[in-house]
Amino acid sequence: MARRKKIYEGKAKIMFEGPEPGTIVQYFKDDATAFNAKKRDIIQGKGVLNNRISEHFMVGLDAVGIPTHFIRRLNMREQLVRAVEIIPLEVVVRNYSAGTMAKRLGIEEGTPLPRPIVEFCYKNDDLGDPLVTEEHIFAFNWASQHDVENMISLALRVNDYMSGLLFGVGIRLVDFKIEIGRQYDGDYHRLIVADEITPDCCRLWDIESGDKLDKDLFRLDIGSLSEAYAEVARRLDLLPGNELIVPRPSN
Ligand code: TMP
Ligand code: ASP
Repeated sequence: MARRKKIYEGKAKIMFEGPEPGTIVQYFKDDATAFNAKKRDIIQGKGVLNNRISEHFMVGLDAVGIPTHFIRRLNMREQLVRAVEIIPLEVVVRNYSAGTMAKRLGIEEGTPLPRPIVEFCYKNDDLGDPLVTEEHIFAFNWASQHDVENMISLALRVNDYMSGLLFGVGIRLVDFKIEIGRQYDGDYHRLIVADEITPDCCRLWDIESGDKLDKDLFRLDIGSLSEAYAEVARRLDLLPGNELIVPRPSN
């Protein structure tokens, strides 16, 4: 890792130049941030778990024909991905009311929505990733109408796949955020799922108990993130037995 050229360091990951043109090495850090990095901590082992969980979701998506940037996992913290031009929009899909939607519209957290709702937020931490409409997206040229249609369709397909997979292991996919990139082939480009799909960017609730298994534990200071992420990994069969790959907190 030391010899790789750093391209960009984000809040939870570092991007390095990949071994071949058009590839990037994505390194998962243990840093946790919330509220646009106003709250920060280091959660031992989070990067290892997220690397493995994101691999699992991306490989599954590819297998059902939903294109992603994922090529292969390199080691505990790194994966090789295709280089893309990230569209500066966070694509949020919601199945149940929670988070900012619950607050904004006064819909009680946990209320099932009549259908999955897709939202776009402008990727800008200084502005707090504000919700935007298609009018903003077209006017400011963040994406074309064709791109937006494809993004909605990709996001809903990801939602179908992820909801089913997680339901099978007793987890409700309340909402999630994905990022989408343009992969160029000459003048032509296709849209593919990029970044990561992990409990950092999803709301995951245990179907029976309603317990949260996602970053809300950290945002709201209500439980151990590493134990919850390890539980998600264990249910997805990504951790052998009950082995914990992250240390239990000492208190
Ligand atoms: P929200 O309720 O805060 O708008 O978030 C909706 C979902 O999107 C939730 O699962 C968290 C995820 N999300 C991120 O991971 N990063 C972000 O910057 C935003 C705005 C949402
Ligand atoms: N992704 C943002 C951050 O890390 C917002 C959040 O997850 O609460 O600060």
